[in-house]
Amino acid sequence: MKNLFYFACLSLLFGLNSCKSITQSSPESIYPLNKSIQAKNAAVVTAHYVASEVGKSILEKGGNAVDAAIAVQFALDVCFPVAGNIGGGGFMIYRENGGAVYTLDYREKAPLAATADMYLDENGDADLNKSQLGHLAVGVPGSVDGMVQAYKRFSKLKDWKTLVQPSVDIAKKGFKLTASQAAYLNETKPKFEKANTRPNQFSDSKRFKTGELLVQKDLARVYEAIRDNGREGFYGGWVADSIVAEMKRGNGIITLEDLEKYQAKWREPVAGYYDDYKVYSMAPPSSGGVLLIQMLEMLEDYDLKDMGFHSTESIHLITEVERRAFADRAKHLGDTDFYPVPLKEMMDSLYARKRMIDFDPKQASLSSQIGAGELKESEQTTHFCIVDNEGNAVSITTTLNGGYGSKVIVGGTGIFLNNEMDDFSAKPGTPNMFGLIGAEANKIEPEKRMLSSMTPTIIEKNGELVMVLGTPGGSTIITSVLQVALNYMEFGMDANEAVQASRFHHQWLPNVITSEKSAISPEVLKELNSMGHEVVIRGKIGRMEAIIKMQDGSLDAAADTRGDDHASGY
Ligand code: GLY
Repeated sequence: MKNLFYFACLSLLFGLNSCKSITQSSPESIYPLNKSIQAKNAAVVTAHYVASEVGKSILEKGGNAVDAAIAVQFALDVCFPVAGNIGGGGFMIYRENGGAVYTLDYREKAPLAATADMYLDENGDADLNKSQLGHLAVGVPGSVDGMVQAYKRFSKLKDWKTLVQPSVDIAKKGFKLTASQAAYLNETKPKFEKANTRPNQFSDSKRFKTGELLVQKDLARVYEAIRDNGREGFYGGWVADSIVAEMKRGNGIITLEDLEKYQAKWREPVAGYYDDYKVYSMAPPSSGGVLLIQMLEMLEDYDLKDMGFHSTESIHLITEVERRAFADRAKHLGDTDFYPVPLKEMMDSLYARKRMIDFDPKQASLSSQIGAGELKESEQTTHFCIVDNEGNAVSITTTLNGGYGSKVIVGGTGIFLNNEMDDFSAKPGTPNMFGLIGAEANKIEPEKRMLSSMTPTIIEKNGELVMVLGTPGGSTIITSVLQVALNYMEFGMDANEAVQASRFHHQWLPNVITSEKSAISPEVLKELNSMGHEVVIRGKIGRMEAIIKMQDGSLDAAADTRGDDHASGY
């Protein structure tokens, strides 16, 4: 009964869904989650019910996809703090209805005082505790400047306060924790206790319960500052002073100068063709777009459809393509502002063919050595997709890196800070938290952006928007985006089928296919083993969101059943 009352309130706040939907929530679910909708005009898919409904409400007020994206980015910080953020960063890809594509890099930067050897111990070994937990792990946050820049360039509403106000309200009034949110907060409590210098509701609370209302009073004040003062509300004033004071208390190195200097950056998207499709994604400092294009180039000469979805042949081929792309990632990719990444060459079709010369359809290739990295589950980043009623599309992947980032909450503000510094190569050849290794291209330098795997993607066909997609999942982001794009382009799946289909992953090192259980049948597993592939079954891979624009102009949107994700629209 209490739940019904809560839904009634949310419905009044956000308006009821008018589009066709498949609601898939278990009886004890806190929210009525739509996993698949067909919307006539506009759609939003995010990792949380409350954020999706905020996005929809902005679209209904006449905001465009960028307006809705700004409101969603902030709302996710409040209602999905494990990865939604203002203490982290992200990438936005925006396609205007006319076909122009823009990408915004609001990735964190290394602080001015950062050094290449800052995570090495006295023996010269990388101390990953320091790059993953606590104040030294934090990069200079980019999300607020990113949203301000997106607003200045593309907002249709031209009403900043309306975009920020939902976050003030949700933080003040609270939102109900889902079962997985309550469980993960409880699980992370010992780390919150370890990393924090000031009392806060996450270190100090008793166990969180499913359905409990999470009110964040300090964070509401931060959002009032951002609402009233824009960029200055975060990078200046009492919020910036609080961040710097937190750094001093915890031996972190971010200064007021770091905050004042931070600027998000508009970059050229990377783009490539696959059959009749044109695929746009994020350029470095993300590795995702380059690898996605490179892998599609490598696949173009083969007939995946003919091989069959998740057949031995297709899994072997995709694995070999992923292996080769990730080997290139480790050596060549880093922030192009600091390192001459051979971008064009890496995405060139002749180069892709050359990379596949040694592909043996009957035998697994050998990665040079097997690394020790262990892949983690996928909640540490988040993705959302939005298409508005004019056909403008936004694809954003945003992150604190690990779940709740560095676990540091800025005293008196409720802001979670990222641990993005772990995405640099702390030492050549040493795996980071995703088992990824790097080299010179991704070494730590002041003001450099750490290499990312985030792959927000938009696909068009014959000059028309056809698909918006992306996912969290660390290194598996890139291979999941590849596979879901192929599910649509090659295997003809609709949004829901493409998103919910099982996935597998290979990243060169460690030399193993990690796979969701249902992706590989017992017969295929046997055949892959006999070809020399080691396969390890793991938990869920990613939390994919996708919107497909149908030929009649309607939108087919899907939210991943692997999480509490929710599609909304009208
Ligand atoms: N922090 C995860 C990524 O950017 O790839």
